[in-house]
Amino acid sequence: MMDPATSVSNPTVDSTATSQEDRALFTPLNPDYPDLVKLRDVLDSHNFNVEGIERTYQIPLPVLLSEPFYQVLWRTREETSLDLLVRLFLEGERISLAKFETIVEATGLEPWVECGLVRVDGSSVSAVVELFPFRGLWMTFDFKPHYTQPLSNYYVMGVASSTKTLSEITIRQPYEKVLDLGCGSGLQALLCSNHSEFAIGIDQNPRAINLAKFNAALNGITNVEFRQGDLFQPVEGEKFDLIVSNPPYVVSPPSDWIFRDGNRKDSEREGDAFCQMVVKEGAKYLNEGGYLEMLANWVHPREENWKVRLRGWFDDTECDAWVMQAGEQSSPNYANLWIKDTTSEANRKATFDQWMEYYESLKVDRISAGCIVMRKRSRADNYFCLEKMPDKWAKNAGNTIQRAFLFLDMLAKTSDEELLDTAFCRSPNIRLTQYLEPQENSWGLVQNQIRVMDPLPSRADMDSVAMALLTQCNGDLPVRTILEGICEGLKAEWEEVLPAGLAMTKGFLQRGLIWPPEHQEAPSEIAEKGFGASGSEEPDMKQQRDTL
Ligand SMILES: C[S@@+](CC[C@H](N)C(=O)[O-])C[C@H]1O[C@@H](n2cnc3c(N)ncnc32)[C@H](O)[C@@H]1O
Repeated sequence: MMDPATSVSNPTVDSTATSQEDRALFTPLNPDYPDLVKLRDVLDSHNFNVEGIERTYQIPLPVLLSEPFYQVLWRTREETSLDLLVRLFLEGERISLAKFETIVEATGLEPWVECGLVRVDGSSVSAVVELFPFRGLWMTFDFKPHYTQPLSNYYVMGVASSTKTLSEITIRQPYEKVLDLGCGSGLQALLCSNHSEFAIGIDQNPRAINLAKFNAALNGITNVEFRQGDLFQPVEGEKFDLIVSNPPYVVSPPSDWIFRDGNRKDSEREGDAFCQMVVKEGAKYLNEGGYLEMLANWVHPREENWKVRLRGWFDDTECDAWVMQAGEQSSPNYANLWIKDTTSEANRKATFDQWMEYYESLKVDRISAGCIVMRKRSRADNYFCLEKMPDKWAKNAGNTIQRAFLFLDMLAKTSDEELLDTAFCRSPNIRLTQYLEPQENSWGLVQNQIRVMDPLPSRADMDSVAMALLTQCNGDLPVRTILEGICEGLKAEWEEVLPAGLAMTKGFLQRGLIWPPEHQEAPSEIAEKGFGASGSEEPDMKQQRDTL
C-alpha cells in the first residue's frame, strides 16, 4: 500500500499538514490503480447510486445529505450494504472491517485500500475521501471540514450549488475540445467529456488534479486529461470550443484557501480580478463561435458605475456577452454570508472586521453574483446583455441559453421592417396569470404576470400592451397586424406604439417567450442523457455562499 506521508507527488502538500486531520486530507489516491471501474461496479451493485439511495430512503439525495449525521445514522440503522456505504462514504463514519469485506467481496478488500479510498484501522474501515454519486458519475472529494480547525489550503470541495449551477447552464452540444478552468474534483470536465471529443481540466491545486484523475479512472473516462498550473498556463497556445469555469470568485481578503480565494495574495488579483482575468484571458483561448461559461462575483466600487465597469471586462474580447445577475448584497452582508459557516464563533468578529477593512481599502460597498456566458464572434458588432438571472435553473438551461444567442443572431440580421412582417409563435413554456380585484358589480384587472416555466424559469409583471402583443403571437399574425390592432384599441398613433412594440418583440424573442416561425424545439439528447439518470435536484439552485 502507498504510504500517504511519502507518496504525495507534490511534497509541498504534505509539508503544510499540521494536524492529524489535515494530514488525512492530503492522502493521495492512486488513479493508476488497475481496473478502478470494478470498484464503481461494486458500488452500483449495492445501489449506491442516486436512484438506489432515493428509492431506498424515499427522499431526494440532497435532502438526505443536508440531514444531521445522527438522523442519517438512524435512517441507516439496519446496516444493510447500502446503509453501510452511505455511512462510510457520505457521512465519513467508521464501519466494521468484516462487514465491509462482505460488501466488497467481488473485488476483495485490497484494491479499495491500495487505491487509497479507504483506510483500515484494526477492526474498522474509514473513508479517506467522500464518495458521492452525481449524474451517473461517482465523484471523490474531501469531506467537509470542521471550521473549528484551520481549513487546509489543499481542500478539494465537493458538489456545491455553484457546481450544479455551472453544470446546468453548460451548453451541451458536441464539441471537439473543452476546457474546465479550476476543475477541482473534475466534475465539469467529466460531464463535458460525455459530449466532446476531448476535455481538459486545469487547477492550481495538486490535490485537485490527483482527485480529478482518480475520478476519471473510477468512472472509466479516458477522453479527459487533468493538468496542474495557474490560470490558463497549462494550456498555453491551445484553443477550445467550450470553456467552463467555476472560479474562486469570492471577494475576500488574502487567504490560503485556494479553492475559494484563488491567490488573492497576489496584488494583481485583488477584489474581483480573478473573474475579470478569466473573462479577458479566456476569450483568447476560444475558437471562433466557441462559448465560455462561468460563474462570477463582481464589485460595485463606490466611485464608479458598476455596470459600466463590468461592461469594460468584455472590451477587446471579440465576444458577445450575456451576464445574468443573480443578486447583489451590501459588503457587510456579503462578508457575513461567507464568514458565518467558515469561521469559528470565537474568530468571527475579528474576521468580519478584517473583511470590512479590505472592502474599505477597495472602496467597495456592494458585491454582485451571477453567471457570464460569452461567445467568440470576431470582426463583428458584439452585443452585451446584462439582466437578472432566472429564479431557478433547470438541468438543460444551457440549451435555452444557446437558443437566446441564436435568436440574437437572427435579430442582428433582421431589419425592423422584416421583424414587423414576421408572424412569431408563442413559446409553449409560458404561463400567464391575471390578478383581479372585486369592484362594484364585477372584477377589475390589477396585474398581469408572466411565468416562464422550464428551462429558465422566471416571473415578471406585464402591462396590458405587452400582454396583448404576446398573447396574439400565434404564428399567423405578423407583428405589424398585432400592433395595428393595439393602436386601434388604445386610440393611439402608430408612431407612439411602434418603438415600444419593436422593443418588446425583440425582448420577447431574446428571452425565448416567442419563437421565429421556423424554430423547432427538439429536446437535447445530450442534456437528457447525461451519464445516466440524475435523480432529484435541490429545490433552489441559486448560486450564493456555496463553494463549501
Ligand atoms: C470554486 S472551486 C470549483 C471547483 C469545481 N470546478 C466545481 O465546479 O465544483 C474553484 C477551483 O479553482 C481552483 N483554483 C484556484 N486558484 C486557481 C488558479 N490560480 N489557477 C487554476 N485554478 C485555480 C481551486 O483549486 C478550485 O478547485
